[in-house]
Amino acid sequence: MTITLIKNGTVVSPSGRVASDVLVDGETVAAVGAPGFFASAEATADKVIDAAGKYVIPGGIDVHTHMELPFGGTNASDTFETGTIAAAWGGVTTIVDFAVQTTGANVIEGLAEWHAKAEGNCAIDYGFHQILGGIDDESLKALRYLTENEGVTSFKLFMAYPGVFYSDDGQILRAMQTAGDVGATIMMHAENGIAIDVLVQQALARGETDPVNHAWTRPAALEGEATHRAIVLSAVAGNVPLYIVHLSASQALDHVAEARNAGRNVFAETCPQYLYMTVEETLAKPDFEGAKWVCSPPIRSAHDDHPHHADLWKGLRTNDLAIVSTDHCPFCFKDQKELGRGDFSKIPNGMGGVEHRMELLYQGVATGEITLERWVETCCTTPARMFGMYPKKGIVAPGADADIVVWDPNTKTEIGYGEGKKHHMNIDHSSWEGYVIDGKVDTVLSRGMVVIEDDTFTGRKGHGQFVKRGLSQYLV
Ligand code: URP
Ligand code: ZN
Ligand code: ZN
Repeated sequence: MTITLIKNGTVVSPSGRVASDVLVDGETVAAVGAPGFFASAEATADKVIDAAGKYVIPGGIDVHTHMELPFGGTNASDTFETGTIAAAWGGVTTIVDFAVQTTGANVIEGLAEWHAKAEGNCAIDYGFHQILGGIDDESLKALRYLTENEGVTSFKLFMAYPGVFYSDDGQILRAMQTAGDVGATIMMHAENGIAIDVLVQQALARGETDPVNHAWTRPAALEGEATHRAIVLSAVAGNVPLYIVHLSASQALDHVAEARNAGRNVFAETCPQYLYMTVEETLAKPDFEGAKWVCSPPIRSAHDDHPHHADLWKGLRTNDLAIVSTDHCPFCFKDQKELGRGDFSKIPNGMGGVEHRMELLYQGVATGEITLERWVETCCTTPARMFGMYPKKGIVAPGADADIVVWDPNTKTEIGYGEGKKHHMNIDHSSWEGYVIDGKVDTVLSRGMVVIEDDTFTGRKGHGQFVKRGLSQYLV
């Protein structure tokens, strides 16, 4: 067994920061002790990492990625290999990706397909949620089976994308009732896709074909409406755990906050793009460049009648937003985003970001939006607890997997694709070009194996293991 000592650092958890040394035995944390406590072990340790002046945090957990997702006539450009290596560079040691059942297909076969894509190819650990693109007796039976036997305990439904993944209200209610029976979580893409499709057709008929129209035809009010409807349906189903994914708008957050204030099992995540970006600086760029930022829900406008960014940061502080994920769903500009030249509705939806979440959220610490502890909580610990992986994941504590990031707060990260700063995701551009962030990933351990050190990837594909997950640990 390899013994690793991480000394002189400050260990950070949601409950505080403590100067501590961490002893790793093989794949797990053996002990956390006062500085110098493991001095006698230092001479015999296989590796000593000096974390003086640095933070020692649990490995990041990104619970919303789409490696290799077929979408809009193409496939998301990161494979499980390229995407998990990029994740490791960004201080992420576990992803939870979405296995897909398209409408009419078999759920169990969809999950098997995702296992086949990921197995032997991941550099870090991974789990799966299951997308249900069709609700019928067979898929509801599969929901039970996956929850009880396969470690897949969360199911994403779509109120958007009619004809692709869409479920109507009756189907959603049935899925929620079944989820309630077995304790599974329903994850909801909450946008009113039926109304959006009308707005899209009307815009195209007026000749409004540029990428910016993606944002104008998906107004925040229709995210708020769908979020409210999902919350009501989950109440009717019996306070079934509901997790709103990629929440972008103040109106949606208000409904989540109202439900949470009423004590409901309602949770939500947001993503960095919704905390930082505006339509005007992204989708509105000329010459089709705005296509790089087409994702759903869309990035919101600076001129909306709601201060979305400020509200989302506040939601992170108040825990109405529990988690920050990326919704990593990358498409290259060339040949992929370009599919939508002349018709914005044909631009594949999604952006890449799995490599940048930890640093983009740390910037919120640097600017005083959230505390250091809340950064760890929203990016590492809560994702583990929300999706049944804690305390194996999400904490630096004895017995936990040694998924650890040494974070250097004294240097900067320059994000981009241009000369000298090429990211590691398989995308031909960066949505975050030019962002300069305080702090930097220094060293990353994945189950005890050093995978990032001295600006070098030292891991290997195939190291990552499938994580069988339990139920959400937030339910009462
Ligand atoms: O635009 C997005 N979000 N693409 C990925 C699929 C989804 O809805 O999460
Ligand atoms: Zn979605
Ligand atoms: Zn997604």
